Amino acid sequence: MKKLEDYVINIPDFPKPGIIFRDITSILRDPEGLKLSVHELMHCLEGTEFDVVVGAESRGFLFGMPLAYNKSKGFVPVRKKGKLPRETVSREYALEYGTAEIEIHKEDIRPGQRVVFVDDLLATGGTAKAAIDLIEQLGGVVVKVLFVMELQGLHGRDALKGYDVEAVITYP
Ligand code: PRP
Ligand code: ADE
Repeated sequence: MKKLEDYVINIPDFPKPGIIFRDITSILRDPEGLKLSVHELMHCLEGTEFDVVVGAESRGFLFGMPLAYNKSKGFVPVRKKGKLPRETVSREYALEYGTAEIEIHKEDIRPGQRVVFVDDLLATGGTAKAAIDLIEQLGGVVVKVLFVMELQGLHGRDALKGYDVEAVITYP
């Protein structure tokens, strides 16, 4: 039986020389890959009590939403700046290949809510840390930080010390 990592296509030198791009679209296009990815993420949440899933634009939406649906929870998006129509809080952060700013609707996280943060990939941890900071600024409690893939060589966990971090696939 195929493992989840068997569905990932690795593209050297995209989007810049030296980066190995781990493409999740090759998981999602395959009905078995799609099912397996959501099942593996759901498995990581067994025993975790939470109220809402927060996912990061854009690839975090692809996994966060089915996860929330299957767990009968709501889903809250963290988006790149300028996309959300209601009042937001925002934060700048560094990427493996650039910088960005993300934001979340202020009223979409309530104080004390237990939040699972989901994204496709942990690289430097900049995105996840910025999203967690936003959730906490609004009084949310981050009980799990969940990824499909982790690039261990970029030490993203160092930015997420003190959180319960889990990844389905790890690359050295
Ligand atoms: C990618 C990926 C993660 C983030 C990981 O998103 O989907 O969100 O980078 O990198 P980090 O751990 O160094 O922050 P990207 O900003 O490229 O946006 P996309 O999902 O819209 O492609
Ligand atoms: N986001 C940041 N680094 C990445 C990589 N190497 N592959 C896919 N997505 C990424």
